[in-house]
Amino acid sequence: MTLIKSKLPTTGTTIFTRMSALAAQYDALNLSQGYPDFDPPQALLEAMSRAIKEGNNQYAPMAGLPALREQLAGQLALHRNVNCNPDTEITIVPGATEGIYCSIMASVHSGDEVIVLDPCYDSYAPAIHMAGGRAIHVALQGDSFAPDWAAIEAALSPRSRMIVINSPHNPTGTTWSEADLQTLEKLAQQHNLLVCSDEVYEHLVYDGQQHHSVLQRPGLRERAFAHFSFGKTFSVTGWKTGYCVAPPALTAELRKVHQFVAFVAVTPVQQAIADFLTSDPGYPATLADTYQRRRDLFCHALEPSRFTLRPSQGTYFQLLDYSAISDLPDRQLSEEWTRSPGIASIPVSVFYQRAPRQGLLRFCFAKRDEVLLEAAEMLCKI
Ligand SMILES: Cc1ncc(COP(=O)(O)O)c(C=O)c1O
Repeated sequence: MTLIKSKLPTTGTTIFTRMSALAAQYDALNLSQGYPDFDPPQALLEAMSRAIKEGNNQYAPMAGLPALREQLAGQLALHRNVNCNPDTEITIVPGATEGIYCSIMASVHSGDEVIVLDPCYDSYAPAIHMAGGRAIHVALQGDSFAPDWAAIEAALSPRSRMIVINSPHNPTGTTWSEADLQTLEKLAQQHNLLVCSDEVYEHLVYDGQQHHSVLQRPGLRERAFAHFSFGKTFSVTGWKTGYCVAPPALTAELRKVHQFVAFVAVTPVQQAIADFLTSDPGYPATLADTYQRRRDLFCHALEPSRFTLRPSQGTYFQLLDYSAISDLPDRQLSEEWTRSPGIASIPVSVFYQRAPRQGLLRFCFAKRDEVLLEAAEMLCKI
């Protein structure tokens, strides 16, 4: 007799766990999973150790430490010119993934449909499914990965409740323009859609561009959950803390779910980030330059290779097109290259419900210079 009936019967171990395990097994350079291999700012590490020693070790308030929410309201005003009330519109969560899950759980009822744009981060569809909804997958456009508005509109139905968007975009490194957000605003208003906006890479935008947030457009601001991650902004993915900004009515519903999923985020992390931002509010604005330098180092070193480099406008991911080298499926090739010559990447097809045949691998460039140069040298020999 079966003891448990799976709620996610088609879900297995994620590709990130698999590729990292394979990289460890073959002692390969691991450019697969998206995390930095360098230290966060020293002042943040010191703030964390101070926060623990000074007794910030018990539950924080459910919505997050007031001092941190105040700082974040200041950050939104400073970087995005957005006003928000830290008491009623900001919730600190144990990672953006939990925030996204709670916003979907709070909004999606049985039978509701949610538009997701493939390729996409792997937590969206399972969260929609667990809420009793249906993820309607619409592919981003072929080579550009821009939103295909005609296809999105065609996928809408009277049951459509929400659209999930992500810019800067994992895995492709593309960013949405102001015009894209304007089109989304019109569409969301017309169809009364909620918007779940994953903006965890907001500060990693290159070549002098600006990040465009849903919080900056009034027609989206009133219907959006915007998700952010300290893991990305402060190079501390293992601290698993982030925040969600949404209007009071949406925040109230999100918190009802959050209080029974995690209840709170980790207290000393919140205190440390509040202290760090108090002393260095401009730090997030320095990220674009430091990551752009890493991207440029990696891309420049890849110039003699046989790969075609797709433009990476944001995030810390670079797509390499290998179609001039091989016509093997991307999963097979990424595993093969992890074993020999010893470099791990993520096949882009795993981010799709129905992947086109593309020949694209995703490499994370949040790595030390010597690792990026060694990786590029290996790739140039392929
Ligand atoms: C697009 C996207 N959203 C969310 C997350 C998760 O953020 P967190 O670690 O804060 O849960 C990631 C992490 O890789 C991501 O790439």
